[in-house]
Amino acid sequence: MRSPTRTRSDMKTNEKVTRILIVDRDRPDAALIDCAASIIRRGGLVAFPTETVYGLGANASDPRAVAAIFEAKGRPSYNPLIVHVSDLEMAWSCVSNPPAVFERLAPRFWPGPLTLVASRSDRIAANVSAGLATVAVRMPANAVARALVEHSGVPIAAPSANRSNRVSPTTAEHVLKDLNGLIDAVLDGGPCALGVESTVLDLTGSIPAILRPGPISAQAIEAELGFAIRDFEPLDSSREQAFKKSDHQEQLIDVGRGDIAMKSPGTSAVHYAPRTRATRIEAERIGSIEWTGRVGLLVLGDHPIDLLLERTDRREVPAVRIDLRDPVAAAEAFYRTLHEFDELALDEIVIVLPPDRREWLAVRDRASRAARPYQIKT
Ligand code: TXA
Ligand code: MG
Repeated sequence: MRSPTRTRSDMKTNEKVTRILIVDRDRPDAALIDCAASIIRRGGLVAFPTETVYGLGANASDPRAVAAIFEAKGRPSYNPLIVHVSDLEMAWSCVSNPPAVFERLAPRFWPGPLTLVASRSDRIAANVSAGLATVAVRMPANAVARALVEHSGVPIAAPSANRSNRVSPTTAEHVLKDLNGLIDAVLDGGPCALGVESTVLDLTGSIPAILRPGPISAQAIEAELGFAIRDFEPLDSSREQAFKKSDHQEQLIDVGRGDIAMKSPGTSAVHYAPRTRATRIEAERIGSIEWTGRVGLLVLGDHPIDLLLERTDRREVPAVRIDLRDPVAAAEAFYRTLHEFDELALDEIVIVLPPDRREWLAVRDRASRAARPYQIKT
């Protein structure tokens, strides 16, 4: 007779019991951090909070541990990972011959949400960088993240802790929704303070270039360097028409911004999609929306939405509406709101894009990747 308790051999090979380690965000319990650190040293996977989003971590020097990240996320092997360090010395050990700008920016912006891309050292497994000769490095500001890296004693490769192409996690619950049973542990340090991923800055060319906009702006970097850098170039709608669409999101080919997309594959189109069908629209066009079914409306920016809606004589209204008026608050709540909308059995999510202004660059970028353009019915 078979025993009712499942033995190891009954379990699917990728099925694990994910431990949930609840820690204080600012003063994490050392015993729990040690437990997580020993999982990392053994080649396991631990999700942890950072000030931006939760990361899914593994020892960046161990190619098998790194391969397990790609496996658990279902991440295509061509999309490189960010390496997290706990101090500057560890950062220098991840890169080879860092340019002068690296040495200038790291101490100024770290710990914090700026990721620097430079030449990769031998300490970092090649699959971290998906075969590129470069590596992306950052020192997170979150105390849990820092303690985990420090106690592990190794740099930790960590993409956002979501399944590939899904909404980034800003709480441990979001992580478990996607990865429960696929990873060894999650350190639950509460919600992330910033809510959008770090700024990614490429330092391998003649001029530093922002590959992904985030909490640290081009202007802040320029103020430190004293010269102009290449700011992020958003997708514009005319270029967007040129995207080759396919049902399989991973096959979306970004033909509009070839060089950046190739340097940083994670910046390709539709990348952070909720499960619910999601579309986006500029505020001025909100009057064209047909409210069929249960629509969740997410308004980004301080637009006169009520006025714009009143001008149309539509009776139907959205089933749920969330307004995020200020760019910092909107960044913090953006992914969380998409996760919440996904729980509401909506027929559609409509995102009203924020103004096309600097302070909204990161949120506008993430909104453009979470949703396709709204097709106005004629
Ligand atoms: O805030 C963050 O950066 C979070 C937390 C966990 O630190 N991490 C994160 O990782 O957003 P992920 O994997 O979701 O995004 C990594 C981004 C992608 O756009 C990827 O293409 C880019 O960084 N990247 C990584 N390594 C790179 C490299 N060597 N060269 C250029 N871009 C790179
Ligand atoms: Mg991600």
